[in-house]
Order: sequence, then C-alpha cells, then structure tokens
Amino acid sequence: MGTLKPLVIGDLVAKHPVIQGGMGVGISLSSLAGAVAKTGGIGIISTAQIGFREPDFKKNPLEANLRAIGQEMKKAREIAPEGIIGFNIMVATKNYASYVKKAVKAGADLIISGAGLPVSLPEYVAEAAEEAGIVLKTKIAPIVSTVKSAMVICKLWDRKYHRAPDLVVVEGPLAGGHLGFSREELKNLGVDTSEVDLTYKQADYDEEVKGIIRLVKEYGDKYNKKIPVVTAGGIYTHEDVLHQLSLGVDGVQVATRFVTTVECDAPEEFKQAYILAEKEDIVITKSPVGMPGRAIKNPFLKGVGEVPFRLEHCYQCLERCDRETIPYCITKALVNSAEGRTGEGLVFCGSKAYLATGLETVEEVMNDLVGEN
Ligand SMILES: Cc1cc2nc3c(=O)[nH]c(=O)nc-3n(C[C@H](O)[C@H](O)[C@H](O)COP(=O)(O)O)c2cc1C
Repeated sequence: MGTLKPLVIGDLVAKHPVIQGGMGVGISLSSLAGAVAKTGGIGIISTAQIGFREPDFKKNPLEANLRAIGQEMKKAREIAPEGIIGFNIMVATKNYASYVKKAVKAGADLIISGAGLPVSLPEYVAEAAEEAGIVLKTKIAPIVSTVKSAMVICKLWDRKYHRAPDLVVVEGPLAGGHLGFSREELKNLGVDTSEVDLTYKQADYDEEVKGIIRLVKEYGDKYNKKIPVVTAGGIYTHEDVLHQLSLGVDGVQVATRFVTTVECDAPEEFKQAYILAEKEDIVITKSPVGMPGRAIKNPFLKGVGEVPFRLEHCYQCLERCDRETIPYCITKALVNSAEGRTGEGLVFCGSKAYLATGLETVEEVMNDLVGEN
C-alpha cells in the first residue's frame, strides 16, 4: 500500500496528494488545516469572515479578519510545524488584495483562489513580499471549472505577468459551497439543480478535466515547470481518488469528507447536520453571491423568501452585493451555522455529505482516501 505519489508543487512536497479544500465561514480554520498538514496532506484555512469570533468583528470586520489570518496561521503551524499550510481566499471578497497580502506576510505556503477568476493575484503576492522585504515563497493557484476559464486565467497571467500558475484546482459540479457553473451549465452536465443527482454526466466532465490538463501542460512547457492539476468535488472515497488519478491529475482536493472529523473547526451541530442529512436533503440554492451553491435544505433554507428580507447590518463581505435585492445576508447565515445555530443558518455541503455516518479523525480520513488502512 502507500502507492500514491506525493503531490509536488515547486519546492513543496506533500506526502499525500490530498489538499483539504478551504471552507468558510469558520469550517476550515487552524485545527482542521493543521491536522491535515500534520498527516502529510495540504491544510487550507478559509479567510471568509475568518475573524467572526473576534470581539470587534461586527464593528470592524476587515481588521478582525486580517488579525485572525495571522492568528490562525500561527496556530496551524504549531500543530504541524513541518506541514504545508495555505489559505483559500475568494476573489469575490471585498478588499481581496488586503487578504492576499496578509496571507503572504503570515507565511502562507499556498493561496488558492476561486469564486471568480484571480486576475491580479500574481501582482498582489509580489507586492506583499516587497512590502514585507521577504523572498516570495507563496505558491498561487486559481480554481477553474472549465477549459474556458482555465484558458482565460493562464492566458492573462502569461500576457500580463509572464508567469503561469503553480497549481490549478479544477472544481467540478459535485462540489460544496459556491459552484463555478451557472444553473444552465449544471443542467447541461446532467446535474438536477433542484435535487442532488449523482448520475451527472461524469464522462463528459472527465473529458473537460482532461482538456484542462492538456492546456495546463502547454503553459507548464512554456515556463519549463511542472504545474500540477488537482480535481475537487464529490471525492469521498479511495475509489473516487483513484478515478481522478486515472484521468491524469496529480492529486485531489477534498472538503466535505473532512467536515465530519473530530478536528474540524465546525461546531458539533454543523457536523451533525451532515451526519443526519439524507441524499434528498442536499440541494442547489441561489446564494446572494449570485452563484448557485450546494447546501442542506434545513429550516433556514426552507424559510428563505417567505418573509421579505431587510438588512440590519452589513459585514462588508462581498465586493458586489445588492443590498436591495438579496434574499438574506450570507455572512449572517454562515456565521449562524458556524456558531452552532444551524437551523437558522446556511449549511453548505458537497453532494456526498449524506454519506457521513459518524465522526472520524483526520488521520482515519486521510488513510482511507489514500488507501493506506
Ligand atoms: C462547508 C463548505 C464551505 C466551503 N467554503 C468555500 C470557500 O469559502 N471558498 C472556496 O473557494 N470554496 C469553498 N468550498 C468548496 C471546497 O473548498 C471544495 O473545493 C469543494 O467542496 C470540494 O468538493 P467536496 O466538498 O465534495 O469534497 C466550501 C465547501 C464546503 C463544503
């Protein structure tokens, strides 16, 4: 056993080709990311409202969040001093550049950025290193969902910055949280957008993944470097991992499976929501971010739209948020869940969340994913 190859991203070498996907708000912080890094995978802390526990969060969310980036990184490093730890920073975040810069200065090994294309990410990481007077070591990875989006970002970085990504994350239609597809695209891929449908056109999407691998290789060849590609979305078992590797990817990004671990930063109620969920409880919903997102249909989601919504307080989370038309405040809904009030909150999850039957340790999950148990 132990036959899977390590994941190599430049000078970063992860023993297991498994990245734990970033999960906001408050789901993947230092405890989960540190534990994953300690077992030889790559741990990712989500910066989405990362400072929600800070006393000044409501008054000064940006400051609270930036402070928490440093704190969470420090705690994760204490758990896994030799491990690989990075941040997931959503492009749609208000003050995105400040988050990127803080993550670099906090010593992130890697920044993974999706929910939009991270057009200016190379510039922000370089500026941060210059400002801090440090040699830039943070690797950068865009999240893409199609050959088209991979091409756009590779072309842009090539033309504007004369560089290529260090890693590419391909997020497919079975992922949790916000999805990089329109409802129309999801339907074309055979995903039933009202209920989860695991019979989606996997063969079609596998071809898309192969197309992305070919495209990324062209840019790798141009810059004389190996750019690893990892896939995400619905990867839950060792068989799922083997299937992805058979497509030619270098590793996987897994989120949902890590939620029901002892070490996950989510409150017990959030983990229980996964354990209790049935397949038909997992739905695609339209989030105020303007993208479809996958979540558990709980009392909160059932009630959305039933009473007119009035925003009481803005937490400054998104670059673009139409306060007049949103059906609810996404920060409030996610913080409710992160604080254990899941019935009043949005519970994001991947399409396979219903498979959880109880809590596991991160080590058990990792061993199962890589086939070492
Ligand atoms: C609870 C939850 C929160 C998430 N939050 C984020 C996030 O803040 N930013 C992001 O880019 N992706 C987010 N994701 C997506 C994951 O990082 C990951 O790519 C995806 O869920 C992988 O599919 P899986 O959950 O089926 O393993 C989230 C996923 C879940 C389940």
